Amino acid sequence: MTAPAGTGDRSLRTVLAAAHHRLEAAGIASPAADAHLLVAHVLGVPRGELSRRVVLGYELADDEAARLEAAVARRAERVPLQHLTGLAPFRRLELLVGPGVFVPRAETELLAGWAVEAAAGVAAAGGEPLVVDLCTGSGAIALAVADEVPQARVVAVELGADAVAWARRNVERLGLGARVEVRAGDAARADAGVLADVAGEVDIVAANPPYIPPDAEPVEPEVRDHDPALALYGGGDDGLAVPRAVVATAARLLRPGGLLLMEHGELQGAATRAFASGPDWAGARTERDLTGRDRALVAVRS
Ligand SMILES: C[S@@+](CC[C@H](N)C(=O)[O-])C[C@H]1O[C@@H](n2cnc3c(N)ncnc32)[C@H](O)[C@@H]1O
Repeated sequence: MTAPAGTGDRSLRTVLAAAHHRLEAAGIASPAADAHLLVAHVLGVPRGELSRRVVLGYELADDEAARLEAAVARRAERVPLQHLTGLAPFRRLELLVGPGVFVPRAETELLAGWAVEAAAGVAAAGGEPLVVDLCTGSGAIALAVADEVPQARVVAVELGADAVAWARRNVERLGLGARVEVRAGDAARADAGVLADVAGEVDIVAANPPYIPPDAEPVEPEVRDHDPALALYGGGDDGLAVPRAVVATAARLLRPGGLLLMEHGELQGAATRAFASGPDWAGARTERDLTGRDRALVAVRS
């Protein structure tokens, strides 16, 4: 891969190609993109700057080559790219992530977008939307809503102590502390727990809870070995203990007419609709993702 410090071809073109091949050999699904992002991270430049530097014949300095070697080696060991760059993109934001917090996924941007639309609708009608993000992780959904709907106030709840710290770091870094509050607590408490003060007043509850069944261990090492177990496994035989409890919590939190948006696994549409079939709910449906797979429960509080 990259030549050891002080030796070999350090041209950016050669270094990029070597990193690409090493990541490909390690089974990385997007080796070219990962190589570019790691090199850009090590050089401290935007990815788009790399092609200009390739044309100009840029050569890596000793320390850059050494840091790149270390980063590519760790990526080849299947450490998540986002843990190496320290950042994960989410809608218009870049979020700080690392060990102890779930790396936000592109598919959740869809759910966050529906929450943004719903909150913008409340704001357009003259209201100040109150949004709760249950199981917030890095704060992804909460922060996207606050970023895109300036009238929104968002309360985010998270059980994992490390994740709470990451979410609070993101709130501070994005300067959204006046409108986003991260509370440490259990979103699965039937009495609404740390959210008792807003029970019955919330316009939108958005959640991406853990929902993987215990016998469906993810195959990707990045997920299996680096996302916290608390973020993956939803509990019970079907992985739906936390999502079931989240629906019950949402029923306590939402005002009449308030909206629940909850992500789930592609085979969990019917089961999660059943959680919202009682008298607390005026209607429940399943939204699909861009590949046509069942992806989220949408329900209106009666
Ligand atoms: C799948 S991750 C999603 C994180 C974030 N919402 C996102 O989309 O990137 C689920 C999160 O729920 C948290 N969690 C699990 N059980 C919880 C509970 N009972 N109450 C609150 N948070 C919980 C996990 O620690 C993890 O951060």
